[in-house]
Amino acid sequence: MIKEQFLSDIKSELENLKETGLYKAEYEIVSEQFSEIEIFHQGAKKHVLNFCANNYLGLANNKSLIEAAKKSLDDYGLGAASVRFICGTFDLHKKFEKKLADFLGFEDVITFSSCFAANGGVFAALLDENDAIISADLNHASLIDGIRLSKAARYFYKFDDMVALEEKLQEAQKYKNRLIVTDGVLSMDGDIAKLNQIADLAEKYDAMLLVDDSHATGFIGENGRGTLELCGIEGRVDILTSTLGKALGGSGGGFIASKKEIIDKLRNKARPYLFSNNILPMVAAVGIEIVDMILKSKTLIKKLAENTAYFRKKMLEAGFDLRDKNAVHPVVPVMLHDALLASKFAKMMVEEEGIYVIAFSFPVVPKNEARIRVQISAAHEIEHLDKAIAAFTKVGKKLSVI
Ligand SMILES: Cc1ncc(COP(=O)(O)O)c(C=O)c1O
Repeated sequence: MIKEQFLSDIKSELENLKETGLYKAEYEIVSEQFSEIEIFHQGAKKHVLNFCANNYLGLANNKSLIEAAKKSLDDYGLGAASVRFICGTFDLHKKFEKKLADFLGFEDVITFSSCFAANGGVFAALLDENDAIISADLNHASLIDGIRLSKAARYFYKFDDMVALEEKLQEAQKYKNRLIVTDGVLSMDGDIAKLNQIADLAEKYDAMLLVDDSHATGFIGENGRGTLELCGIEGRVDILTSTLGKALGGSGGGFIASKKEIIDKLRNKARPYLFSNNILPMVAAVGIEIVDMILKSKTLIKKLAENTAYFRKKMLEAGFDLRDKNAVHPVVPVMLHDALLASKFAKMMVEEEGIYVIAFSFPVVPKNEARIRVQISAAHEIEHLDKAIAAFTKVGKKLSVI
């Protein structure tokens, strides 16, 4: 029986979130996911331009991929009704894992129902109290939670502070195995990790390196192989984790790429793999097609990079603070600092200007670093970008931000 007091405590907590601009409301989308979408708002459908999906390559509604998904639904049904090791492994899973491993240049890949699940399972499966994890402070919540679940000792360094990383590596030398853990790209900032220097330090201190490339796989680097390709460190990262829920179709699922033995151990020890259903056969079928598409043509990768450069340049010219004016990633943080201002700005963008953007505030970003995170997609056309820039400028002036 839930106590009255318990509910009323929750109510006041929620009220407090609303008053401080930290409450996360949800708009309902009533169309397919794309650059132009319809949301259900105040009892009616509203057409808006979408600037906050992780749909980097614009594949979430791709017609040939939807056909591949339909065929796999006909051939394999909705799902396995089983975890992988019982009767949940279709040939599609194996083909997709092999395809991803070849594409990314690793010996093997294991898929999970999400990257959150992959990150949730990898550390406890591979490391114990004799080992140490040296983790970047701004790492994604799933890495943080996954690390908490392992018995390894924990050290933290500031994401881009290589002196601090070296100090922590020195302190951690007493442990049997050491694993450096970093996001390839910070999801809230678009900052790319100093992977060259991190890989050098990993070698110097005989540590392993894990990179979560969820905001890079498929579209960063000339061939879309992510930050490892961009930074020229392919072959020097021991474990790569990433998602299927962003550039690679946006449906859902995650994976880990590594050496054969490590993947085999994860199949036997990673709890989210052992005790939870895997990606749908449909997602594996579509994934195979997506890797082929990326291998065949760089058009989408190029268009995304051009769109990003255009948007960033125009927003800087309009006077917005984008944190790092030389950044190149399609995650574009428009800094507003104050949580209430950020949520008001985003609300006006959606409701008055028809530009769907979302404000991010604490605890998703540090206090006083509230922002609107714009995400550019290959699905955007120049007209979309121009409309968004004009709307940002209008609202920015109204709210005295620029
Ligand atoms: C860096 C990073 N890792 C992991 C995840 C989780 O991905 P998934 O949606 O596949 O669980 C995200 C998604 O927000 C992310 O940004």
